[in-house]
Amino acid sequence: MKPIVTNRLIIREFRPSDLGEIYRILDVELGLVDSVEQDSSIAQRKKWLEWTLQSYEQNRMLLNPPYGNNAIVLKDSLQLIGACGFTPILAPLGLIPYYRYSAGVVDEEYNYPEVGIFFAISPHYQCRGFAYEASKALIELGFKKLKIKRIVGITNLYNNPSIAVLKRLGMRIETLPSHKWMQVVGFLENNLNGKAD
Ligand SMILES: CC(C)(COP(=O)(O)OP(=O)(O)OC[C@H]1O[C@@H](n2cnc3c(N)ncnc32)[C@H](O)[C@@H]1OP(=O)(O)O)[C@@H](O)C(=O)NCCC(=O)NCCS
Repeated sequence: MKPIVTNRLIIREFRPSDLGEIYRILDVELGLVDSVEQDSSIAQRKKWLEWTLQSYEQNRMLLNPPYGNNAIVLKDSLQLIGACGFTPILAPLGLIPYYRYSAGVVDEEYNYPEVGIFFAISPHYQCRGFAYEASKALIELGFKKLKIKRIVGITNLYNNPSIAVLKRLGMRIETLPSHKWMQVVGFLENNLNGKAD
């Protein structure tokens, strides 16, 4: 993905030299673990970074959408402060009446594919609107250039900062409190009617 420049940020592809900083942010500061197989070690983060770097090349060669992790960097100091990107979602979204209506589906049993958005910001830089600014720029790329029909954000009931960001992005928030991992889903529809360049 070409770098995106916003008022205060640059969203760019990761580089091998980002390993130490992104390990500190995601594993040490935020303790993010997506599955029981992740152990928050630098060795694990190194593999993640290698996979991320390879995905840029492979996605480009295969003409795939720019799914994957991007670095969020402060424009002024070039300090790495977080990560964001698009992610493929395969989820039982038909459980949500709004989705059934907006996507025109009737089944609740199937998993449906959508484009998701994710973000993480170092605690030292939180609550300054950086997650919002980075996500807004990604959404603009997604809607205008990639012509994605809708963008989805999934989080849990207790992730108030994440829910706040999804709301500020203008997403419609739906909740499934008893679901294991899909408790809060934000939906943003592309209303540009395919007119974007
Ligand atoms: C979610 C996260 C990326 C937000 O980053 P951020 O740069 O602080 O986000 P912003 O400054 O753009 O917005 C933060 C919003 O959360 C709100 N917020 C912050 N802490 C909060 C809390 N404890 N309870 C409720 N709202 C809170 C802020 O008021 C702000 O909302 P507003 O814009 O309506 O005022 C950050 O908290 C994070 O990295 N969390 C861990 C990773 C994660 O959970 N990612 C989301 C996965 S779906």
